[in-house]
Amino acid sequence: MAVDPNLSIEGLRAGYGAIDILNGVDLTVHPGDFIALMGPNGAGKSTLLMTIFGMTTFKQGMIRWRGKNIGGAKPQSILSQGIGIVPQGRCNFPLMSVDENLEMAGYIVRDREVRAELDYVFELFPILKARRYQLAGNLSGGEQQLLETAMAVLRKPEIVLIDEPSVGLSPQAITIVFNELKRLHADGRAILLVEQNTRKAMEVAERAVVLRLGKVIWDGRTSDITHAELGQLFMTGQIGNQVEAPTGPIA
Ligand SMILES: Nc1ncnc2c1ncn2[C@@H]1O[C@H](COP(=O)(O)OP(=O)(O)O)[C@@H](O)[C@H]1O
Ligand SMILES: [Mg+2]
Repeated sequence: MAVDPNLSIEGLRAGYGAIDILNGVDLTVHPGDFIALMGPNGAGKSTLLMTIFGMTTFKQGMIRWRGKNIGGAKPQSILSQGIGIVPQGRCNFPLMSVDENLEMAGYIVRDREVRAELDYVFELFPILKARRYQLAGNLSGGEQQLLETAMAVLRKPEIVLIDEPSVGLSPQAITIVFNELKRLHADGRAILLVEQNTRKAMEVAERAVVLRLGKVIWDGRTSDITHAELGQLFMTGQIGNQVEAPTGPIA
């Protein structure tokens, strides 16, 4: 039996002020999905994550989360409804300790729950426990990425949106971060990962969604597309000599 999608996006148009970036995006995410959202620079990947999170100008279409339309809702409302986001780039408080950063991220959680939430992320990311009294700004890039991911999953969101976690990291740190993403997924979270390292993304994700010029042009299992085909899709929007932009089977 097909599982109802948690997140269902239809005909989404959004952008920045008068500028439209997303030109009719359709995407569904089912509980426990691991999706790599890929596409050339400027395709609108970050804009899509930010739009789900209520941070852009919502124009038209539907963003349904657990059956409820959240299109155009405010970020704080979305945050409290089981959606977590790890934005691109460094986004911790560098002059605060790891512990304090996690407390900041948990500020909407009731006091008595904070302990349990901290225990949960320390169990997921033991390295953060070892570093808990250090300043976030003194951690390595990979550790900071883990901290930012921990800040997003503190409240156990059902879905985590992650934008380019591997940027600026060493190969070893990238491996650590991707392993942690796999653990998060194994722990029951759906993951929508934007990643420019397409080889890595295709390795960890079960489904690939390709965005180009603000539209989804391919959606299917990562095993159904080769790396070369992915490159072709990025460049031309097509695979081979096909005239119609292909759409793979929806997982
Ligand atoms: N704050 C902004 N204001 C206006 N245009 C923006 C803003 N942020 C991004 N853009 C534009 O939106 C388009 C899509 O950007 P983005 O979503 O960041 O793409 P991607 O993440 O796929 O590389 C680009 O043309 C970019 O210049
Ligand atoms: Mg981006």
